[in-house]
Amino acid sequence: MLYATISLTAGEHQYPIHVGSDLLSDPALITPHIQGRRALLISNETVGPLFAPSIRRALEDVELDEYFLPDGEAFKTLDRVTDAVEHLIRGEHTRDTTIIALGGGVVGDTAGFTAAVYQRGVPFVQIPTTLLAQVDASVGGKTAVNHALGKNMIGAFYQPQAVLIDTDTLKSLPERERIAGVAEVIKHGVLADSGYFEWIEAHLDEILAQDPAVMSHAIARSCEIKSEVVADDEKEKGRRALLNLGHTFGHAIESALGYGEWLHGEAVGAGLVMAADLSMRMGMLAPADAVRIKRLVTRAGLPVMPPEGVRGQLRELMSRDKKASDAGLRLILVRRIGEAEVVESVPEALIADTIGIGEGLCAA
Ligand SMILES: NC(=O)c1ccc[n+]([C@@H]2O[C@H](COP(=O)([O-])OP(=O)(O)OC[C@H]3O[C@@H](n4cnc5c(N)ncnc54)[C@H](O)[C@@H]3O)[C@@H](O)[C@H]2O)c1
Repeated sequence: MLYATISLTAGEHQYPIHVGSDLLSDPALITPHIQGRRALLISNETVGPLFAPSIRRALEDVELDEYFLPDGEAFKTLDRVTDAVEHLIRGEHTRDTTIIALGGGVVGDTAGFTAAVYQRGVPFVQIPTTLLAQVDASVGGKTAVNHALGKNMIGAFYQPQAVLIDTDTLKSLPERERIAGVAEVIKHGVLADSGYFEWIEAHLDEILAQDPAVMSHAIARSCEIKSEVVADDEKEKGRRALLNLGHTFGHAIESALGYGEWLHGEAVGAGLVMAADLSMRMGMLAPADAVRIKRLVTRAGLPVMPPEGVRGQLRELMSRDKKASDAGLRLILVRRIGEAEVVESVPEALIADTIGIGEGLCAA
């Protein structure tokens, strides 16, 4: 059942994001976005076997080729893109082939980048199957793979033809992955919509229990918020940076621990609380609102503080984050729930306090 269709405009490109349940095998939603007679389904060894049969059924009239990656962030590499490109060349795929990305953010980013570079770009469709990918990674056209020296260092802005979000796919998702996705849902409320934040506070238990109607609403509202921001600033020259709320702290935690130790969403959970804490120390955010953010992140089952053992490294790693500009560290801070802003000069002593050496909200 289709719950909502959000239209995302990025420059000249406009595309639908369909959200609902039991959508995968509906030919009417996917067929219009397959440009030629042929498509390549890129997935991984975990997700492919679960959902490829539904897509095959929906695309009966399309010649559907498959390329499955091994599962894991470790395979989000240029080598795998080269391998997928080789698969396309050997299969004599032309520019009319549509690439379908079926999986979490790792598959979406890798398949999206492959679509961006194969013969200078072929159409692609995103079918995200993790909550994180449904509310974040599949929307907005950022594609990338990792380099040994840095995450997401090789990539392109490349928009899909459509995003198809079937909430039924979340049923097989491990609980820890689901909870990690909730961090990005909370982030959207904090940065853009206080009413949505309140709604999440009221419906968190249903979100965690995966109530289908509640999930559809959460995903649709998050996609709407992300779409509005991306429409304003596709290439992240300004406002799109707000979507990185919690991420400069989060990336530093992930990097200090070694990628994979904490899930991305877990690091974002702690990052959101740290951003709220720092905003409060800056005198921007009312303490009561900082506490509400921390309480919601805690209720979701996400971490709210960086692990003690890595705190000493975080400040240095924050400067290395790709979101840092030439001018220095830029942080996304919270003015009030529903409003975030970029702040360029934050006193070092306050950052140190927030990192956990201090005694404020994070440490409480
Ligand atoms: N492009 C963007 O804008 C953007 C935004 C945020 C994150 N990302 C990227 O996304 C990646 C993280 O994505 P993720 O959190 O989705 O992780 P992921 O893609 O690694 O998926 C997590 C795990 O869940 C499995 N899985 C996926 N769907 C499943 C399902 N329905 N049932 C059972 N298992 C399933 C996967 O095989 C994997 O083991 C990172 O590489 C990150 O850099 C990109």
